[in-house]
Amino acid sequence: MSHALRPTRTPTILIVGASRGLGHAMAAEFVAKGWHVIGTVRAGQSPTLLHALADQRPQSVEVETVDITRPDEIDSLRARLSDRMLDILFVNAGTTNPDPTQTIGEVSTVDFANLMITNALSPMRVVERLSDLVPAAGLIGVMSSGQGSVADNESGQREVYRGSKAALNQLMRSFAARQIDTPRAMLLMAPGWVRTDLGGPDGRLSIDESVPGIVDVLLAKRGRPGLEYLDYRGKTVRW
Ligand SMILES: NC(=O)c1ccc[n+]([C@@H]2O[C@H](COP(=O)([O-])OP(=O)(O)OC[C@H]3O[C@@H](n4cnc5c(N)ncnc54)[C@H](OP(=O)(O)O)[C@@H]3O)[C@@H](O)[C@H]2O)c1
Repeated sequence: MSHALRPTRTPTILIVGASRGLGHAMAAEFVAKGWHVIGTVRAGQSPTLLHALADQRPQSVEVETVDITRPDEIDSLRARLSDRMLDILFVNAGTTNPDPTQTIGEVSTVDFANLMITNALSPMRVVERLSDLVPAAGLIGVMSSGQGSVADNESGQREVYRGSKAALNQLMRSFAARQIDTPRAMLLMAPGWVRTDLGGPDGRLSIDESVPGIVDVLLAKRGRPGLEYLDYRGKTVRW
């Protein structure tokens, strides 16, 4: 078969945490660019915006389930996807503590632990468990935040959330450092302050002002080995 006639494979992205907000908008943007999207929601959450997208584009969108704080559910997801190849694995899921204005001296141990588990430990568990589904030319990305930057922290505020994203960044750096010679691309993404349930109504950006940039940065990062910490415009964020 000549090269021109060879069927081309539709690239696939797994977006973990795609029920709403940035994750759902990323799913819609990747579909618009001709990608196949496997998006995850937490079990029992139906119908979500991702389900609506899957109804509109059933050939392009699959809905999977995982709660990233449940290792058994990550294992089940890994088993269900065992014969799939992920051109991009992107862990978007994240949260904040119930009172983000609390200082480290005020936050309860339970709220602190829950936030660290959801924002730092669990995304890395997904990365560790699913990374072998990503080929050498693929990309592993995680949704960080500009607030994860230690160097840029001059205002304090949302300090427990900041700590969780800084921990995520450090853990992702360790993951990357362990495989320094890999051809794989790895990315920590800072999406900007966006008006979502998490970002709140005062965010500087609409979803439409952030997500196309996020997607373009992911696509451009493919084929560029090693870990980078970039914002939605492709600018490097200081560690
Ligand atoms: N918005 C911003 O300004 C901003 C800025 C910097 C970084 N970020 C990061 O961007 C990511 C998305 O935020 P967003 O603004 O789109 O927030 P959002 O609208 O609150 O969406 C959060 C997403 O994460 C999922 N999620 C939370 N905990 C989960 C868990 N244990 N297991 C599986 N999924 C879980 C949610 O699923 P459910 O629907 O099931 O809850 C939802 O899909 C987060 O990592 C956040 O920290 C956001």
